[in-house]
Amino acid sequence: MIKNVLIIGATGQIGSELTLALRKIYGNDHVIAAGIENPCEKLLQSGVYETLNILDAQRLAEVVKKYQIDAIINMAAILSAVGEKNPMLAWNVNINGLINVLEVARELQLKRVLNPSSIAAFGPSTPKDNTPQETILRPTSMYGITKVAGELLADYYVLKYGLDVRGLRYPGIISNETLPGGGTTDYAVAIFYEAIKTGHYECFLKEDTMLPMMYMPDCLKATIDLFHADFNKLIHHNDFNVAAFSFTPKMLYENIKQYLPAFTISYKPDYRQAIADSWPRSIDDSCARAEWGWQPSFSMDDMVKDMIQVLKQKHEKGLI
Ligand code: SER
Repeated sequence: MIKNVLIIGATGQIGSELTLALRKIYGNDHVIAAGIENPCEKLLQSGVYETLNILDAQRLAEVVKKYQIDAIINMAAILSAVGEKNPMLAWNVNINGLINVLEVARELQLKRVLNPSSIAAFGPSTPKDNTPQETILRPTSMYGITKVAGELLADYYVLKYGLDVRGLRYPGIISNETLPGGGTTDYAVAIFYEAIKTGHYECFLKEDTMLPMMYMPDCLKATIDLFHADFNKLIHHNDFNVAAFSFTPKMLYENIKQYLPAFTISYKPDYRQAIADSWPRSIDDSCARAEWGWQPSFSMDDMVKDMIQVLKQKHEKGLI
């Protein structure tokens, strides 16, 4: 049984909410948050936070021993847009960081590791619609390259050492707690904040760029369900496709406009367009459904309605 979980990258978009969700399951003292950025009040007040750079293997081992950690969830990553600006940093954090996690897990015989991948694992030669889990993996972004290499590395630790390592390919994640940092799908979060705060959004992708997306409650559900899945029933381990819905910036704009009729949008594609163009439009997640019962709860309409409601309230309180 897993008692103590370490979440690395706990201050990020997913890590911050995942830490709070897991603290509700395992108890506040049993989920240790770690990262290199300043944690928000909710993280600090609900449990332990350790400053930890994933590249510091010695300190990672110290933290694991100090809290008798038996599972690590690695949410530390350099995302696609920042990765194109600084490819070596992306390689270093996403690959050397992951190796540190896998090695400490092997050496200290931890019970479980979860390391996410992404739709960025796919590339221009991958079939774009209903993309299968097992298909051509030839990404053209450094982020994508590190994600494919990470999936293979993690599978290697399963095969070679019998280590329990799992992972899933996140689509773009939409949320309203912690802002995403440096991804190509970030537009789908920023658009809500700008719609509510200024009434206008300038989109860095073209209006017809279709990408797979998911709302944070489903992202947390997918992550926690895979984390708790019976390892013996898994056929795949580190490359699970998970899907909820797909949309273009124009579709999202029109949906938001139902709630904010004066909202306007303009389009100014930049270097992130090429990254988005190399990714699938929609994802086939039948392996996740069959092997660990994955099923999303939120449709695009549910997500938009909830995002507007939550962010309007935050805006009225002066929080955003
Ligand atoms: N959201 C990520 C990005 O845009 C994809 O996994 O980089």
